[in-house]
Amino acid sequence: MHQVAREIINWPAIREDFPILRERAHGHPLIYFDNAATSQKPRSVLDVLRRYYEHQNANVHRGLHELSSRATEAYEKSRQRVANYLGAASADEIVFTRGTTEGINLVAQAWGQKFLRAGDVILLTEMEHHSNLVPWQLLAERLGLRLRFVPVRDDGTLALDQLPSLLTPEVKLFAFTHVSNSLGTINPVAELSEQARAIGAVTLVDAAQSAGHMPIDVQKWGCDFVAFSGHKMCGPTGIGALYGRAEILDSMPPYHGGGEMIVSVTLEKSAFKKAPHRFEAGTPNIAGAIGLAAAIDYIEQIGRAAIFEHDAHLASYAIKRLEELPGMRILGPTSPRGALVGFVMEAAHPHDLTTFADQYGLALRGGHHCNQPLMRRFGLPGTTRASFYFYNTTEEVDRMTEILRDAVRFFS
Ligand SMILES: Cc1ncc(COP(=O)(O)O)c(C=O)c1O
Repeated sequence: MHQVAREIINWPAIREDFPILRERAHGHPLIYFDNAATSQKPRSVLDVLRRYYEHQNANVHRGLHELSSRATEAYEKSRQRVANYLGAASADEIVFTRGTTEGINLVAQAWGQKFLRAGDVILLTEMEHHSNLVPWQLLAERLGLRLRFVPVRDDGTLALDQLPSLLTPEVKLFAFTHVSNSLGTINPVAELSEQARAIGAVTLVDAAQSAGHMPIDVQKWGCDFVAFSGHKMCGPTGIGALYGRAEILDSMPPYHGGGEMIVSVTLEKSAFKKAPHRFEAGTPNIAGAIGLAAAIDYIEQIGRAAIFEHDAHLASYAIKRLEELPGMRILGPTSPRGALVGFVMEAAHPHDLTTFADQYGLALRGGHHCNQPLMRRFGLPGTTRASFYFYNTTEEVDRMTEILRDAVRFFS
């Protein structure tokens, strides 16, 4: 990734675009460090949603009136916007979903049911979020598949030296996260995809923690599927997208049945539209898709390389400050690292620590972060996580350190 001058961006002015950052919590200025769970939304996204409902709202695809064509045009333009953002070859490779979780379930049910047989292996990693674990467990149970896992090393990286022995010919799918939501580890997607491709396995990338934070190019990655969520990258909740390479998406049967996804229906049988509309049964989240495109516009105006640099700087600064505190254990690799820091304080359980921080207006997250197997791997009930975005500042990290220093005194 090329270096950009993080310094030339007026980050304080960017904060002004997020009305919620002026909120107070328990009488203190809000410090929002829960961005890995969901990000805040800039005014431009809020304005687009309002404008949509005031000037364009109608159902898409079926209408022969002015508002319906406005809504359809805006919805399909948003699909093209997502395709460009991911470096996809065509908008037909983008399916709108509710988010990462639905994207992965779509692949498990539509692709998995058709192409997997008893005895086949799905390769995952020990650092997967439950949403890239449970859908495969359900499918494995239904079809008699086997699950296999790339172990995580003590430093929070994947044991990639074991890949050659794990990627055997029975592996039909390798599904892995780009950035770990608990460790911050950034996995080498292109390298993993290449190794999977070499044995003929299909690849799925969970980009929930990376899509809004760093440049993504699905063609350079050489993967088959990428799932992400809009709400973690300045967009509304309830919208996300699944990228599927055209050839593979076209080979898949529908996921849900209903209106919008058919060409013709008789009482006994139906013919389905081509991808991606075949996978979007029912009235879609039109406003959400348009809001997601507005979020992409906003992010691209800043630039993903600059955002990555800003967030990486904050994460390494946070690690440096947190290491000053007694009894601190920080998980994950030092560098490169995504925009988050997971840690354990000897003196306090993550839930108690997070509740303490909340009293001072500091929003952290404490618990297993939908990573129960990973927490077990590290022998922990959970961690406390501070996760950053481009509107966060080093001053906020300093304030977090002060609050946590008080917590050490309080709980010791
Ligand atoms: C790595 C990762 N994958 C998947 C998800 C699920 O995202 P969503 O709940 O938006 O579907 C998350 C959410 O925290 C995540 O961090």
